[in-house]
Amino acid sequence: MNALQKDLKKLTALAEAAGAAQPPDPWRPGYHLSPPVGWLNDPNGLCFFRGEYHVFYQYSPFSPEGGVKFWGHFKSRDLLRWERCPVMLYSDQPFDVHGAYSGSALCEEDGLYLYYTGNIKHAGDYDYIRTGRGHNTVLAWSPDGVSLGWKRLLLENAGYPAGLTCHVRDPKVWKQDGRYYMVQGARTLEDEGVVLVFESDDRLNWRHINTLRTQEPYGYMWECPDLFELDGQWFLLVSPQGAPGHGPGFENVYACGYFPLEGDFRGGARLGAFVPFDYGFDFYAPQTFSDGTRRLLIGWQGMPDADYTNPTAERGWQHCLTIPRELERRGKTLAQRPARELEALRKGAQEYRFDGTATAEIGAMAEIVVEGGNVREVDLGGLALRLQDGLLTLEIAEGGHGRQTRRAPVAASDTLRIFWDASTVEVFVNGGETVLSTRWYPAEPARKLTFKGCGAATVYGLKPFTFL
Ligand code: FRU
Repeated sequence: MNALQKDLKKLTALAEAAGAAQPPDPWRPGYHLSPPVGWLNDPNGLCFFRGEYHVFYQYSPFSPEGGVKFWGHFKSRDLLRWERCPVMLYSDQPFDVHGAYSGSALCEEDGLYLYYTGNIKHAGDYDYIRTGRGHNTVLAWSPDGVSLGWKRLLLENAGYPAGLTCHVRDPKVWKQDGRYYMVQGARTLEDEGVVLVFESDDRLNWRHINTLRTQEPYGYMWECPDLFELDGQWFLLVSPQGAPGHGPGFENVYACGYFPLEGDFRGGARLGAFVPFDYGFDFYAPQTFSDGTRRLLIGWQGMPDADYTNPTAERGWQHCLTIPRELERRGKTLAQRPARELEALRKGAQEYRFDGTATAEIGAMAEIVVEGGNVREVDLGGLALRLQDGLLTLEIAEGGHGRQTRRAPVAASDTLRIFWDASTVEVFVNGGETVLSTRWYPAEPARKLTFKGCGAATVYGLKPFTFL
């Protein structure tokens, strides 16, 4: 352990102790992972390793407004009982000293291999896009998934293909056909977002073998790529900045979605039309992984550079992750269902049938399941979901802190599953075909619901995650 890591560790413990001494915050989600103190963004290194789920995340413990990024860490055997683990990666080496940026995990016999971006910002008069920044590909090895063995610099900007700015980051690594593959997001000198594909035989030495791009440029930078096959179809997930879309699914400052792929990602693949992942205000930089039986996804419930805010920053913390979602292929699209484990959080069920209007009460944590194609509105008192003319509109009248309206195309809604957790809402329409995620900060987390139209609803109270 070097002196910098020693000090960062001490300071993190102090910041976390100060956070723990704060009075309980009614806006703290109970069954969403949020930072002990300070700031959280992207989920990193998601994996199922030796019988445990590991969730790392971009973590700045010293300020709720962000700062130098570490890898915070939670783990769980069942996605319900969680352990807060020590920070796995501090920014403590010359090659990652201004941030241990996003990356992924590779599970191997002898331990966990974590690939990430070491961020470097040189002091001086730079634009930090074409000059003044280093984005290094770094590998960290952990023998047990909890403690750090070593870190090693694998690639620097000079080792990436020609024609790129300094922005090359967020390695996602997997093993396939006895080889290793890695994708990274990049910004070209022409300000075009692309994904670089690398190949390796030994996890350490990487060759660039292909670049995935759209026929017409689609935004200036693609962050946090993920590439996987589900039921015979390949999908490329990206969070593009500067994408040209508009209307439902493209109302946020940055987009987030996927391209179905035709052909081999190693050469000759074509990207299909971009599909937005989520239609709410707060969803970005998701990552997927397989636990052997299914592909799970967790996203950041936040949005960089948005003009709406999160009032919890005044209480010393900001942001959370989404609930884990199971991905299901539907043709060339992906449906997202809440991980089935979450059903174990249900306590008590109240049933409603209505033709006209019905009301119900919920506490700070609830799941609301609405069925029937003729439900026109579910109002949580300050946040309403309305179905009309092929659009589901999410409207926040109070407690949005700058958030007002988002829309999603929904021809008919057979089912709505709404997850409410103190300051976060995730809405799954028609078995997860369409999803809207948003933060919402009503003065009182217990809500009175109003259903309008004709249908049936079940309202469950939910228990929080247990922290061991
Ligand atoms: C996406 C992102 C990544 C980067 C990380 C830094 O939100 O900008 O591209 O690695 O956040 O925290």
